[in-house]
Amino acid sequence: MASLPIDIALDGSRGRIAAFFATTVGKKMVMAVTGIVLVVFVIGHMIGNLQVYIGPEAINHYGELLRELLHGGFIWVARGGLLAAVLLHIWAATALTLDSWKARPVGYRRRQQWTESTYASRTMRWGGPILLIFIVYHLLHFTTGTAHNDFVAGDVYHNVVAGFSIWWVSAFYIFAQLVLGLHLYHGVWSMLQTLGLSHPSYNRVRFGISALITAVVVVGNISIPIAVLAGVVS
Ligand code: HEM
Repeated sequence: MASLPIDIALDGSRGRIAAFFATTVGKKMVMAVTGIVLVVFVIGHMIGNLQVYIGPEAINHYGELLRELLHGGFIWVARGGLLAAVLLHIWAATALTLDSWKARPVGYRRRQQWTESTYASRTMRWGGPILLIFIVYHLLHFTTGTAHNDFVAGDVYHNVVAGFSIWWVSAFYIFAQLVLGLHLYHGVWSMLQTLGLSHPSYNRVRFGISALITAVVVVGNISIPIAVLAGVVS
């Protein structure tokens, strides 16, 4: 656990807040709160994406509405909030990982048992960077069009259909959604624990909430590239 100089730690409430965020519990709280913001975004984004099934007008109109809401101000406030949440989430994850490495400077002589917690933290540690790579590619693909084969600004429907018509692009999206699923499942599970549902008697509720959110987001998102490749959306 990182420690603060005692004069800063005792310097009124600012010191106390800084000291709190230097603790493991403080960093886990940052992970949990930014995690909620990101989970809400991912669910909302998936619902927006499903409009591709209604047709070109619906999803293009939806994209236009998001860009024009509050005279174009909404999207920038949402982007700022999302970026802050992602950066804080990565900061807390990195700090917690470094803390756990510091706490165990010498490796175990025998490989640790494949317990639930080690399995979860392993998948979180490789899943996070893969998701980051996916998000950068995704923004270059569907937002700026830089990594798109046939990008038409404002025509979200066309961009989605043309983008997913390339099988390996769809395969990468499907892979990324499966990684997102693992990350979401373990993330929501730990988030609920940090926020108070930590007693084993709540395990069923935590399992139910984590599994439901994961299944809805993963199935909803993966269905889109599959529907394009199958010719259902064209
Ligand atoms: C198959 C799944 C997905 C599809 C079909 C999809 C589709 C899209 C499309 C079409 C846009 C551009 C919208 C527009 O310009 O109006 C977009 C933007 C975006 N997507 Fe996705 N998306 C998917 C998954 C994800 C996931 C899993 C994440 C995050 C983990 C994500 C994060 C974003 C972000 C941050 C933006 C930029 C929003 C902005 O600032 O304008 N997407 N997505």
